Amino acid sequence: MRKRLVAGNWKMHGSRAENARLLDELLQFDSGAWPAAAAVCPPFVYLQESARQLKDSGIALGAQDICADAGGAFTGEVSAAMLKDVGCRYAIVGHSERRALYAEDDRLVARKFMAAQSHQLVPILCVGESLAEREAGQTEAVVARQLDAVLAVIEPEALVEAVLAYEPVWAIGTGKNASPEQAQAVHAFLRGRIASHDARIAAGLQILYGGSVKASNAAELFAMPDVDGGLVGGASLKADEFAQICSAL
Ligand code: PGA
Repeated sequence: MRKRLVAGNWKMHGSRAENARLLDELLQFDSGAWPAAAAVCPPFVYLQESARQLKDSGIALGAQDICADAGGAFTGEVSAAMLKDVGCRYAIVGHSERRALYAEDDRLVARKFMAAQSHQLVPILCVGESLAEREAGQTEAVVARQLDAVLAVIEPEALVEAVLAYEPVWAIGTGKNASPEQAQAVHAFLRGRIASHDARIAAGLQILYGGSVKASNAAELFAMPDVDGGLVGGASLKADEFAQICSAL
């Protein structure tokens, strides 16, 4: 039985007061009753305060991004050591917004993956195709390219302490999720590709689906055999909605 995870990506939302309220509400749900692990990824500046609030709870903390370099003259960046220092367990790498809006390419994403692991952070590696790529029949080629860039620089063993997230770009923030069958097809493809390197590691790898996951569609997505949880944006900003998604696993 694979481990399961629901991670909330808050993106650039919230304030000290709003976050405190959201986490307070989340902590009131009995996370012990959730069959899955849960994590939240607030903006960098709120990580430390969120860590304090989540201390001794079942909810882990993640960062939305990470610097590929270890430290030094990298103005504006946040290193893996710093994220570890403030209590992060996860770091999202290669989110499609980073790729599209900040020109992060496959090689940089691969370096970020390694940076996270260099400090025992679990990278959540995002892959996914745009609508134009899907319509051109390139979905598998695109996610394969994004995955292979990381596989080229790590040993398959490194995937034991990693999470993969399939996030079709056309489903992110649009309210239009991939159908369970569409998600399953890509998840199975990704797992198969990793199995060609190491079948045991592929079988144990958590692959999350992201893109308009909500309380109303989580159960049918999570029922798919290769969907091991969710990376949740908008719906993670509402405690009851996020808690319902966690319960759906
Ligand atoms: P969404 O975002 O759930 O709001 O579609 C998902 C993500 O970007 O990780």
